[in-house]
Amino acid sequence: MVQHLYIETVGCQMNMLDSEMVVASLRRQGYEITSDIKQADTILFNTCSVRQHAEDKIYSALGRLRSWKEEHPEKVIGVLGCMAQKDQQKIFQRAPFVDLIVGPGQLQQVPDLIEQARRGGEMLVAVSRARNDGSLVDIKRSHETFDPLRDPTMRPTPFQAYLRIQIGCDKFCTYCVVPMTRGPEQGRPPAEILQEARLLAEQGCLEITLLGQTVNSYRYQGEDQQWRLADLLEQLHEIEGIRRIKFVTSYPRDMDERLLKTVRDLPGCSPYLHVPLQSGSDAVLERMRRGYSVDDYRQMMERIDRILPEAAVASDFIVGFCGETDDEFQMSVEALREFRFKNSFIFKYSEREGTMANRQMPDDVPYDVKQRRNNLLLEIQNEISEQENQRFVGSTVEVLVEGQSKKSVKEDEQGPVIQLVGRTPCDRIVVFDGTQRQIGQILPVTVYDTKPHTLLGLVATEHVGPELYLLGSP
Ligand code: SAH
Ligand code: SF4
Ligand code: F3S
Repeated sequence: MVQHLYIETVGCQMNMLDSEMVVASLRRQGYEITSDIKQADTILFNTCSVRQHAEDKIYSALGRLRSWKEEHPEKVIGVLGCMAQKDQQKIFQRAPFVDLIVGPGQLQQVPDLIEQARRGGEMLVAVSRARNDGSLVDIKRSHETFDPLRDPTMRPTPFQAYLRIQIGCDKFCTYCVVPMTRGPEQGRPPAEILQEARLLAEQGCLEITLLGQTVNSYRYQGEDQQWRLADLLEQLHEIEGIRRIKFVTSYPRDMDERLLKTVRDLPGCSPYLHVPLQSGSDAVLERMRRGYSVDDYRQMMERIDRILPEAAVASDFIVGFCGETDDEFQMSVEALREFRFKNSFIFKYSEREGTMANRQMPDDVPYDVKQRRNNLLLEIQNEISEQENQRFVGSTVEVLVEGQSKKSVKEDEQGPVIQLVGRTPCDRIVVFDGTQRQIGQILPVTVYDTKPHTLLGLVATEHVGPELYLLGSP
């Protein structure tokens, strides 16, 4: 009998990729995916621990399954990912009906563990070693992943894919759980990365986004050279079929000249840089142990402006970090106004167990102050994003068409027209009218208007004759 799998994923791109791999491995065993949780034989939650809110979401989803699981003890419920690694057995205390708990470094075991759970017996836990549990080699090995299994049907679109080049993180920012949940930083071997990219290209993938927590710190010691991200980009760029390469998330200190020049010189490398500042105050950056000052960041931005002036830079901010005063927050406002990011992800500080901040600094900014600061930064960012978008009005951008944006289908003299959505190389979202068959293509689109987070455009098609023609209507 066919087994049905329901899987829910929260967290970062790493988790999306991990879920793709888990699904690929289960499909090989004959599983089918269902979007109806009650139809499923196996229910998996791929979880995130970066903020309390992400964990609460999963605990309430689990809570809703409690009585259902009592009625259907044969169903298998699993908690995967960073929360599994961080909380381990603790999850059983809050949700004792969970059958398996699998950390992000042990996901290759999921099919076997489900089988084992189905046979009954006790709860199963498979997690990686803690950062102080044994030799570095053993700790690293316990966090290795099983990336080559790819499943195009599990991606948001079949022509875009994530590719992990780096596992873990060694930066130990004082607020962050990732070095604990994902283990030590390790660059994956270039040969594996290139092989996986070729596989993706064969599957019809046009755009690859390289993933790492500090992706531009990538290092791999080969036999006769040390590989950096720029070396990988040069090699990946040679692969036929791959039209766009992006990489996230970057770390300010490693945004060096060579990397920027490589992005500039390779037409397939997108001039999009996600390089979080986190705070505009040196004192806060110091308490966060980010390893750079605002002036270091400014010098990086100058480097970007000089070498890659068309680059779009995106950031993350944390507001209300331990001890953040009004003046310190004001410096984040000023930094945002100075650096004019394309967009910023803004988070309220959430205290995490096991971090240095949790051990040494009180979480003393009241929630409503965090909320107010969050709203204010967001408002300013939205204004900036809209102004930056305005600069595109009248220009033609290259769009990878991702899919349908709304269901609104209308007829014109050429047949049915639907609203499509896609992205520019600099990661701006573009909405325009088109046809089903344009999905998965890279098209020139002329921008006629903007919103804070989208460009509105018209497909520019070359007509008989020399001039560019506009097709469709606003
Ligand atoms: N490796 C990436 C970020 C990973 S987490 C980097 O360093 O850039 C994504 C974002 O979540 C971080 O950039 C940070 O802004 C935010 N974040 C991490 N820990 C947090 C916490 N404890 N509370 C609130 N936001 C947090
Ligand atoms: Fe967390 Fe800092 Fe590592 Fe990013 S660089 S994952 S914020 S510890
Ligand atoms: Fe969350 Fe783990 Fe990613 S904690 S942000 S899913 S690395």
